[in-house]
Amino acid sequence: MFPTSTFTLFFIALFAVFSLVASAPAPLLQRDVYSPPVLYPRNGTVWRVGEHHNVTWDISNAPEHITNNIGMVILCRDHELLDLDRPLAKNFNILIARHEIVVPDVEPGNNYRILVFGDSGNTGEMFTITK
Ligand SMILES: *[C@@H]1O[C@H](CO)[C@@H](O)[C@H](O)[C@H]1NC(C)=O
Ligand SMILES: *[C@@H]1O[C@H](CO)[C@@H](O)[C@H](O)[C@H]1NC(C)=O
Repeated sequence: MFPTSTFTLFFIALFAVFSLVASAPAPLLQRDVYSPPVLYPRNGTVWRVGEHHNVTWDISNAPEHITNNIGMVILCRDHELLDLDRPLAKNFNILIARHEIVVPDVEPGNNYRILVFGDSGNTGEMFTITK
């Protein structure tokens, strides 16, 4: 269903994150892995294909030194990543807490989630996309 490279990339990214965490013996200037919790869209949200919306996330617990503050917004269906190669948004500063996206032309469904990805990802609640 997905190109292998997509999965490979994802697992390499995951592995990098885990090895970072595992090998961090609390150095003086610690750089922290950061995956902000998604606030919107949330359960009950309905988006229509083609609409513009702001994805928002909580930055109140952002660590002082983060390893990667370049963010990416990816659409997921259930627990599958859709189109990691073509994220809804990328190359923005994750500390801005919001990013406008255009709802892509996907099959209607009530099991979509948004993943906001910094060093590692955090998915939001399930929401609905309609035509
Ligand atoms: C998204 O947020 C920006 C900044 O607050 C605002 O200018 C823009 O109109 C918002 N877009 C939508 C679709 O609400
Ligand atoms: C949100 O709504 C869906 C149905 O669309 C439901 O299956 C899911 O358990 C709900 N809760 C969360 C936290 O996503």
